[in-house]
Amino acid sequence: LVGFDTSDDAAIYRLGPELAAVQTVDLFPPVVDDPYHYGAIAAANSLSDVYAMGGRPVTALNIICYPGGSLSMEVLTQILKGSSDKIAEAGVSLVGGHTLEDPEPKYGLCVLGVVHPDKIVTNSGSRPGDLLVLTKPLGLGILTTALKADLLGEDAIARITEVMERLNREAAEAMVEVGVNACTDITGFGLLGHLYEMAHGSGVCARVYASRVPVLHEVWPLVEERIVPSGTYANMEYLKDNIRWGEGVSKETQIVLCDAQTSGGLLISVSREKCDALLQALESRGVPERAVIGEILDQPSGVILVEP
Ligand code: CO
Ligand code: CO
Ligand code: CO
Repeated sequence: LVGFDTSDDAAIYRLGPELAAVQTVDLFPPVVDDPYHYGAIAAANSLSDVYAMGGRPVTALNIICYPGGSLSMEVLTQILKGSSDKIAEAGVSLVGGHTLEDPEPKYGLCVLGVVHPDKIVTNSGSRPGDLLVLTKPLGLGILTTALKADLLGEDAIARITEVMERLNREAAEAMVEVGVNACTDITGFGLLGHLYEMAHGSGVCARVYASRVPVLHEVWPLVEERIVPSGTYANMEYLKDNIRWGEGVSKETQIVLCDAQTSGGLLISVSREKCDALLQALESRGVPERAVIGEILDQPSGVILVEP
């Protein structure tokens, strides 16, 4: 039902009239120093692609790349403890995995989920008039880059860890309850990269109001110093022909809107009539960020307008 064509978050395969399988895989090198939290973040990130499709994850397999000769096995134990606690929180069964020797550790999950074929939320169903809702703040790529350079204090590390390891489950439950037109999660291509995929796949144009986008405030001094991951600049370069920057959108804001995220929030395209119900459903489930950041316009397809 969903394959490669629209750069969606996960593949979906119909198993029967009432049941479809959702499949996805994701892994990455450590983004924080603490192995327990790294494991939890990697698990939350891998599960997120199932949530973004409106699915419910049911089983997961570990994928472990690890330098057994140079790093202690206690570190790996902690990574797997963080992950298995997060998987248990999600109500998912860990059922196996595969390990290989690798000089740079990488970890993630292959996740199987289920969804009713009529309840699938793809990234290509946006309609003109929809409003865009984002459920986590931006800046995680810049902040994890600063962390690697030893430029972050304890509070900032705790804050980004909390954001990245937070499951998108509650946000997804809210959107499935209300019924929305499109969704994707914000990861490596940044807010505007994933929004571009949504707009292009849906054949619509999107407008974002930069000042309405939630951003972790610790980001601003770092981005002024250009502590920015290379993936973020690659996103800007890739998107340059499809974004129209409005007068007064600073270079720093442009960078943040393209910042490559790890385990970011859901970007949801919801009809104007249902937007209040969605915001209420998010609030009642305790989703802390639930910002209306823009809207979907009729023309021209695949273009993103960014206003201050
Ligand atoms: Co995704
Ligand atoms: Co993914
Ligand atoms: Co094997």
